Amino acid sequence: MLQSNFLTVEQVADNLQVTRQTVSKYIRSCELNAVKINKSYRITVDDFESFLNKNSTTEEPQVAYLRRTKNCFLEYSDKSDEFEILYGLENGQFKSIETNHKKDNNKFIFGDNLLVLKKLLDTHKSKIDLVYIDPPFGTGQNFNSIDDDNAYSDKLIDSEFLEFLRKRLFILRELLSEQGSIYLHIDKKIGHYVKIIMDEVFGHKNFINDITRIKCNPKNFARNAYGNYTDMILYYAKNRDKQIWNDVKESMSKAKREELFPKKHPKFGHYTTNPIHAPGKTIDGDTGMEWKGLMPPKGRHWRYSRKVLDELDYLGLIEWSSNGNPRKIVKAKDHKGFKIQDLWEFKDKGLSYVDYPTQKNYDLLERIIKNSSNENSIVLDCFAGSGSTLKVSNSLDREWIGIDNSNHSLNVIKDTFKNENILCNFYEYNTLS
Ligand SMILES: C[S@@+](CC[C@H](N)C(=O)[O-])C[C@H]1O[C@@H](n2cnc3c(N)ncnc32)[C@H](O)[C@@H]1O
Repeated sequence: MLQSNFLTVEQVADNLQVTRQTVSKYIRSCELNAVKINKSYRITVDDFESFLNKNSTTEEPQVAYLRRTKNCFLEYSDKSDEFEILYGLENGQFKSIETNHKKDNNKFIFGDNLLVLKKLLDTHKSKIDLVYIDPPFGTGQNFNSIDDDNAYSDKLIDSEFLEFLRKRLFILRELLSEQGSIYLHIDKKIGHYVKIIMDEVFGHKNFINDITRIKCNPKNFARNAYGNYTDMILYYAKNRDKQIWNDVKESMSKAKREELFPKKHPKFGHYTTNPIHAPGKTIDGDTGMEWKGLMPPKGRHWRYSRKVLDELDYLGLIEWSSNGNPRKIVKAKDHKGFKIQDLWEFKDKGLSYVDYPTQKNYDLLERIIKNSSNENSIVLDCFAGSGSTLKVSNSLDREWIGIDNSNHSLNVIKDTFKNENILCNFYEYNTLS
């Protein structure tokens, strides 16, 4: 077909009198057919006409689209078109700074993550199982190291910050595998806007959790406000129900064990006991019959068959009270741990204890990486800072890629990885002139 038979996304937008972003949405939802030519999308005149025939409506198209999808978007000026973000020109290359091992993954790339992520699309599209990012929070501040070196600046605020993030999120979505997921760490001043951007990029249906993290001790100040000692981690899947989920459990604390398993057995250790009967009467069956000279209490039945009760008793797992009441022994060591809920306490350490300002807690990262990736997964952090995500991924035998554009980050990662014998290949992103 001749090139002139094609319309650009911009021409379709002009025709429909909608934004290019709206046209992108029609394409994404397969309402409008498009083909990719030289990294840009084109629409055949026939496809455009059939779209027009299908969608003849008196309503403004954007409104019609919103009605159909029941979705909502954050509007602000200078919002870029998704297709331009994804397929706009990127003409750089990675230059090796230091090679430490043969495997190409397990690398740190120095450069602006927008360009680096776009370049990674050439090699890692749909290959990343887990993204954890802890971007700047749009605070308008500079962050310095303990020696007062400038670590990074967080000068973009409000809609400029949101757009900065949105652009990177679109590319991260493309890098995620079908079983992949993303955790985005953000504060509560801007986080609710970021949630709507995440809904736009990943789809509201792929939202899984908004985790509240206790980040510090309770605050005491004179301002007329409640102390803010939490931030949030937004967790989305690339494709809900397909994401890696290892259902890691929270182990029992000593205090909880003492509360739930207060007794100590010479052979079984900490334990508690449960009744061996349950509500409901068995009319004719085995669980309604006499066992060891006892009938189940009125209106109840034995929880187990009499054969199983005999077995439990033989194994010493029935505790008989002084007045002859039997209960089943439940051992603390058989407890499988607790389902993790969406309130996490992982406090950050002060700058004098860490390598990098705003460095995140290793235990928090370990929970995320264990739950949402497997040993052969690639974990990506494109706001790597101290390299905390990379370090924890490495200790859990994941592959990993880190990106940051701060010299301080590069130096800290080089030093700590060398000290801890973590093999890493270092690259920088160079734009071709
Ligand atoms: C909050 S810190 C991350 C801290 C990290 N999670 C840790 O535990 O050490 C944000 C990082 O994003 C980096 N950053 C900001 N804008 C960037 C950009 N456009 N490209 C690459 N890195 C960027 C900063 O240099 C900074 O290191």
